[in-house]
Amino acid sequence: MDETHLIEAARDASSRAYAPYSNFRVGAALLTANGEIHVGCNVENASYGLSMCAERAAVFAMSANATDEDDRKVLLVAVVSPDAAPCLPCGACRQVLREFGCEEVVVEESSGIRRYPFGELLPHAFGPEAL
Ligand code: THU
Repeated sequence: MDETHLIEAARDASSRAYAPYSNFRVGAALLTANGEIHVGCNVENASYGLSMCAERAAVFAMSANATDEDDRKVLLVAVVSPDAAPCLPCGACRQVLREFGCEEVVVEESSGIRRYPFGELLPHAFGPEAL
């Protein structure tokens, strides 16, 4: 999979962010082991704590469309914000991505596209295998 394609899908999703309170738009696009791409954007709420991040929205879209294990296995997730570079996933999103075996995260940095091994972003993680 061409990572630039995933970055472009995340950028496109960020254009649909609903972020009237923070004015911080985020888009995420994830690639599953079955080759599907699912996207999400942040969706805020007047009751601020109910807002949802782009990455988790993408994971939930993936899960809602999954019929087998590979449909829920995340190989790579791209995160893009037109309001910050790089835009790395927050801690809550890292934990949710961890649940589905996310292997890598790709973001845009001032020097270009950078891929992070997931273990660098959430080392020594708690996951489903612990239960
Ligand atoms: N946000 C995301 O969508 N993903 C992240 O990983 C970081 C933060 C959103 C949440 C909120 O709508 C806005 O960015 C500012 O925090």
